[in-house]
Amino acid sequence: MDKHRVWQQLEQLCATESSLHLRDLLQVQDRFSRFSFRQDELLLDLSRQRLTTNTLTQLLQLADSCDLAQWIESLFNGERINHTENRAALHTALRLPAEATLEHQGEDLVALVQTDLQRMQHLVEQLHQGQWRGFSGEPIDTLVNVGVGGSDLGPMMVCRALDGFQAPTARQITTHFISSMDGSQISGLLDQLDPARTLFVVSSKSFSTADTLANAATALDWLIRASGLTTELLARRHFIAVTANAPRAEAWGIPVENQLHFRDWVGGRYSLWSTIGLAIAVRIGMSGFRALLDGAHRMDMHFRHTPFSHNLPVLLALAEVWNINFLGIHAHAILPYDGRLAHLPAYLEQLEMESNGKSVDRQGNRIEHHTCPVLWGEIGPNAQHAFYQLLHQGSEAVMCDFIVPARRYADQSDALQSQHRLTLANCLAQARVLALGDAAVDQSNATPWQRYQGNQPSTLILLDELTPASLGALIALYEHKVFVQSVIWNINPFDQWGVELGKQVANSLLDIIGTPATTNRFDIATEGVLNQLHGQWSDRKNTEC
Ligand code: F6P
Repeated sequence: MDKHRVWQQLEQLCATESSLHLRDLLQVQDRFSRFSFRQDELLLDLSRQRLTTNTLTQLLQLADSCDLAQWIESLFNGERINHTENRAALHTALRLPAEATLEHQGEDLVALVQTDLQRMQHLVEQLHQGQWRGFSGEPIDTLVNVGVGGSDLGPMMVCRALDGFQAPTARQITTHFISSMDGSQISGLLDQLDPARTLFVVSSKSFSTADTLANAATALDWLIRASGLTTELLARRHFIAVTANAPRAEAWGIPVENQLHFRDWVGGRYSLWSTIGLAIAVRIGMSGFRALLDGAHRMDMHFRHTPFSHNLPVLLALAEVWNINFLGIHAHAILPYDGRLAHLPAYLEQLEMESNGKSVDRQGNRIEHHTCPVLWGEIGPNAQHAFYQLLHQGSEAVMCDFIVPARRYADQSDALQSQHRLTLANCLAQARVLALGDAAVDQSNATPWQRYQGNQPSTLILLDELTPASLGALIALYEHKVFVQSVIWNINPFDQWGVELGKQVANSLLDIIGTPATTNRFDIATEGVLNQLHGQWSDRKNTEC
């Protein structure tokens, strides 16, 4: 059936089903078994989504009407589905096992990826064995990843999540992440570091991102001042470039021997699986890194080969499409009930909003319906004391993702284990109250301001445990969900033209910050502030004189 027709049918269905309340849907005895799905160590529970079997059947027809199966094959086969940049999106190739085969543009991609990984492994071993030495001959004990967006958020999120998986025999290498353009992170950090033992990993696919290059320049300046040595020597001992643009990294001063590479068919926000994951491999060892890749690969295989009716990324995507396009829910909260996943919301903000935050389709036409919702999040238990008030009693409909491991602290103290039980109880309680509202307990005597409407849909993702493999599967689940939604919305999820204009305009302003604004070059508001800045800077100069 054609997409337009299925879409209309879903609209009609919504007219009758949108009034259904989760407190009634959750009365159906087999609802949990019908709406929860397992893949390896990950359970996807959609029973608190406002779906009926009928809705799901029609949503699956919507997926078929958009040729989803064909698009999935195009993704995995390396077709140039990122058509506005004329390239493939082959992050799944980074997770293929060494014995797999995949040719792309006449190249053996698996061999290429394995070579990159082996170079990364060599570097990780050198660091772990204390063989990488700084300018004074002392071994490096601190790694600072300098990057932004996908060259920061992915490795930082995973390093934090898997902090407990450090390779026991490896030397401890402390890892820091620097991203902010304004220098506030790096200026605070440098005071605490020993320049002779610090290695900067400049992570940038393009090696042209102003934020990253500014931080790298500050790091280099700090090393020069501390050592009195030349840029050339310091770049050899204290800088690694991780990039898809070797010539630019070399022009910056980092020789090819100090570079790790990945290819332009890996999107920035899909790059943690590439050598951009160096900080992860240093933290958890190469075997841990390979387990992360393997967990993601198993989710890839599930996504590619499982019928849509049992396919986790497809089902998750469709449940959200129902919320966004039919129930009119345009806010999405990411709520991990595990502090190790503290950076997951920020990571998903980029993955989802940079991929699908678009309103023009693949053919260049304006899209008439909603696409990616506003997405934000926080560690769930902390958010309970902050913005949950709005989730429970505000005027906005919000869909929520609860993410929690079933087991934690297995071989640690009883006190910590009871903290985990407390966390699980809170996670389930919040999902229950959001769904059922007042009906979660007897609220018959409640005042109006103590009432809870409920019917806020949520997804619960239960990991058996948080491990490199389960985290890999979790991230791949979200990546593929985003892809499925892009197919339904007819969007290219792999470009990000919306961020380019701001960079261009910043460049045009850079040279004149602090000088009086010439009229009519910008707009009244910008020129007003430029003149204010000029006034402030001249006052400061006069005072200093
Ligand atoms: O400006 C957006 C963006 O291009 C992201 O897509 C990307 O992850 C980030 O900047 C960093 O880019 P790079 O790795 O090239 O420095």
